[in-house]
Amino acid sequence: MRFVAKLRSAVRSFLLGQSGFSTAFDLPLQSPQTEVAVWLHGLGEPRDVTFCHSVACPMPCIFCIAFETDGLEQAADHQRVSLHFVERTASSRLLGQIDLDYQDTITTTGPELRLYRATACIETCLPSYRRWMRSLYLARERWKALRSGRSQISSLDSRCNEIVFFCPRPIVLVSLFHGSSGNIFPMNLMGMFEEGYFVFALNRSKKSAGAVAAAAELAISTIPFEHAELARGLGPNHSQNSIDFARLPFGTFASRTLGIPVPEFSLAVLELQVEKVLHLGSHDFFVAQIMSTQVQASAPEFYRIHGLYAAHRRRA
Ligand SMILES: Cc1cc2nc3c(=O)[nH]c(=O)nc-3n(C[C@H](O)[C@H](O)[C@H](O)COP(=O)(O)O)c2cc1C
Repeated sequence: MRFVAKLRSAVRSFLLGQSGFSTAFDLPLQSPQTEVAVWLHGLGEPRDVTFCHSVACPMPCIFCIAFETDGLEQAADHQRVSLHFVERTASSRLLGQIDLDYQDTITTTGPELRLYRATACIETCLPSYRRWMRSLYLARERWKALRSGRSQISSLDSRCNEIVFFCPRPIVLVSLFHGSSGNIFPMNLMGMFEEGYFVFALNRSKKSAGAVAAAAELAISTIPFEHAELARGLGPNHSQNSIDFARLPFGTFASRTLGIPVPEFSLAVLELQVEKVLHLGSHDFFVAQIMSTQVQASAPEFYRIHGLYAAHRRRA
């Protein structure tokens, strides 16, 4: 029996690659990451949007891209565009591409935030036979899940969410304190834009989304990789109404103006005021203004990439 299991695993690895099944790979990186750029194509000259785009909702897969309000692109917002995930190396290798349709515009006192919905995608960092094998494998997994009645993400959304993590994304800790209760949990679907705006997406079915909407004020802490395990361990707090801060496995200090408890090992703390909440699908999309920035220290930060990109990185 053990021999059969080993053989199946070997065949899987051969067909799908070592990383065929893993989704997340955590690593330390100095911020801002310089490995992968995200380029916007379809609105005049390609534009580097690495630091002005964000996932607004994973299901359906919707992106938010920030535009300067007085920019030349303003009239061209109903076109089809695409995001190209490109290695910042001499070869500028294309790792993946996501095609998008314009959906909506959110106005703010700062940048104009446009929402685009994914319509197609391709993972170009995989050899074509692996791409096909993976598609077959994922189709089989989806069919099995459908039969067993588990809720299912579409193939397109699932693959787009993989490509998103071909670009290293930092993981932060969110702290809330509202009335007499509070919480602290990890988050990675987010973006910080110029003119003091921060956007993020939280699963509607978890208590964390409702708590952030109710509190309207929060603190975001970037964290050193050495504390990644502690941050990962706070994932279940997304399902809690509130937690007992005294029982956290680390100390906290009060954020500068709002006095929200943040981890003692925070590298930088941003205080945010939520301006808008949009219900986009599986996740609520929050648009917030940055009220203050407090830099504490510098160290390699907690980042996450997809296993497919991790394997490509190892090969390269
Ligand atoms: C490192 C990390 C980052 C996460 N980032 C987000 C996020 O950006 N948005 C979100 O809604 N949930 C986020 N979560 C929550 C998870 O998606 C999940 O809901 C949580 O870990 C609870 O998992 P469970 O329902 O399997 O217990 C994150 C969790 C972890 C551990």
